[in-house]
Amino acid sequence: MQPEVVHPAEGKPMNFTQIYFGGDYNPEQWPEEVWAEDARLMQQAGVNLVSLGIFAWARIEPRPGAFDFAWLDRLMDLLHAHGVAVNLATPTAAPPAWMVRLHPEMLPVTADGVTLWHGSRRHYCPHNPDYRRYARRVAAALAERYKSHPALAMWHVDNEYGCHVGECFCPRSTAAFRDWLRARYATLAGLNAAWGTAFWSQTYTDWEEIEPPRAAPAQKNPAQQLDWARFTSDSWLACFQEQRDVLKAAAPDVPVTTNFMSFHRPIDYFEFARHEDVVSIDSYPDTSDPGWAAVSAMTFDLIRSLRQGEPWILMEQAASQVNWRQRNAVKKPGVMRLGSLQAVARGANGILFFQWRQSRVGAEKFHSAMLTHAGTESRTWREVQALGRELPCLNALLGGRAKAQVAILMDWHNWWALELDSKPSNDLKLLPGLRAWHRALYQRNIPVDFAHPESDLSRYRLVIAPHLYLVSDAAAANLAAWVERGGVLLMDYFSGIVDPNEQMRPGSYPAPFRGLLGLEIEEFVPYSPEGRNSVLTADGRRFETRFWADVIHLRGAEALARFEQDYFAGSAAVTRNAYSRGSAYYLGAELEPAGLEWLLERVLGEAEVQPVLAGLPEGVEAQRRADSQREWLFLLNHNAFPVRVRLPAGGRDLLGGQAVGGEIELPASGAAVIETVIDRSRQ
Ligand code: GLA
Repeated sequence: MQPEVVHPAEGKPMNFTQIYFGGDYNPEQWPEEVWAEDARLMQQAGVNLVSLGIFAWARIEPRPGAFDFAWLDRLMDLLHAHGVAVNLATPTAAPPAWMVRLHPEMLPVTADGVTLWHGSRRHYCPHNPDYRRYARRVAAALAERYKSHPALAMWHVDNEYGCHVGECFCPRSTAAFRDWLRARYATLAGLNAAWGTAFWSQTYTDWEEIEPPRAAPAQKNPAQQLDWARFTSDSWLACFQEQRDVLKAAAPDVPVTTNFMSFHRPIDYFEFARHEDVVSIDSYPDTSDPGWAAVSAMTFDLIRSLRQGEPWILMEQAASQVNWRQRNAVKKPGVMRLGSLQAVARGANGILFFQWRQSRVGAEKFHSAMLTHAGTESRTWREVQALGRELPCLNALLGGRAKAQVAILMDWHNWWALELDSKPSNDLKLLPGLRAWHRALYQRNIPVDFAHPESDLSRYRLVIAPHLYLVSDAAAANLAAWVERGGVLLMDYFSGIVDPNEQMRPGSYPAPFRGLLGLEIEEFVPYSPEGRNSVLTADGRRFETRFWADVIHLRGAEALARFEQDYFAGSAAVTRNAYSRGSAYYLGAELEPAGLEWLLERVLGEAEVQPVLAGLPEGVEAQRRADSQREWLFLLNHNAFPVRVRLPAGGRDLLGGQAVGGEIELPASGAAVIETVIDRSRQ
């Protein structure tokens, strides 16, 4: 029996007819004379979609309830006449000054009680009823006005929910938190039990006594903090949902999205994505980091996973520099193209930028754009134009999916709980662990998804569970059932410790996984920054460990490596337990990268997982998309020199437009997308 999938997608998957190419378009910052030039140059660059009106609330509704659509009408018509479709935004991320003046209590308040004022953006409390009413009203007005406009392709709700202001501590938010808790627990007795308020005399006798986790003298109640994180995430989703409902009521067939932000802590994207029609993401890797492509690959793999592999849109990237790092690296020649093709390789059907035309005013004057201050006589423009010409060559693969046999488990609730304080080591964070595993797989060109621990894992051969500290009964049962059916699980330290209320699971660690892993952990041994241990593997390799060690007692598992030092020298550090038709590995230490490689080699071997292409030169990224008839092999050369790649089969390079045989040469920073017809007779 298949486990129940807890994250079925609700919205209607978007039907792509072409690869979208374009960017955020903010014409309200420019005199109208410039618009005609914009439209002409968009056409020249091959732009076919722009996100319009994201921050234009003050222009759309200059006075309360008085909408000015004349300018937007002209723009919609102009864009349509130039073959540019519109991703029309609700402008609710930048409330106008008049609203703040009328309702100053709509401003967000930080945990320290500081009010964040108008004069920037995202200055609203997600719980403020006046703000929410205005947001619905402007969304409804836009929907009514443009629902049948031929330029309208999709809706873009708000902008980067939870960015800048992740949470709000104002009185309205406090009241909303109490309502949310009442709905969750029904009784105060239920809440007191779930929050463990017997500890430090925290018992509540009236709902009105409950506050958000404000600044406090010592450690705050962890269950209260965890529920606050859940509540906050739900609140951003509620803001989205009510706008989505308004838009859907007017235009049921127009897809709705909002732009996500990579691994963004305030919002459970697995939950949120279910309520969209298509997932979109903003990605700004720091290309001065030589490992930038691994960073963006991880973001893209997460986004693809949120709606189980459905195509998604890269809603924003920089054509070159951003303006918000301490030093803002340019994207060197070829890098923007490589990053764009990497997104397509990993499932994107749209490549868009922030923004179309570089601003002359405001805080983002030094942020690059498709059309920079240097105009069309610039490297950026030439590269943008070349990409715009190239992407339509890939329209054939719109229905192709990027599939993976390996999943890394990811659960926002675990992330929130793991990083609360008062742990054996407060230095244990989730993302470094995720990154280490993902990077090791990335370097081997092994495709990887991120999966929720309660989701259907049947398509995977190997599942990696980094620091799965908080785990529900359903997730624990799901993992065990999947291993029973033949899966290979690799779990690492500090997993299976608490339940969803952040309460210890009874008995020795890791309570829900003792049988599955065939071991017990007696204690955790976090090291000082200088502390070291080492492990000796059963096949004679020695690896350094740092940061963390588990004192493990075997209860059926075999030891693959044992610690060499400290009072637990000789006890197991890495184990394998044969479990029904599968096996469960456990890593009870922080292994140096070579050790991770050693372990990965072993589990990949047992799970029989192969890279996209074996024997690739270092620095060449390979990824595959496929539909039922054809496969597209993406080869991205991240090296500053040319490389030759041997191919398993000949095909046609869609970018170069030529047939290729058993080998291809990729220039420095070059790429190829090789289309082959799947030979069903050989399967
Ligand atoms: C975010 C926002 C954009 C813009 C860019 C700049 O992604 O959504 O409006 O500010 O950052 O990098």
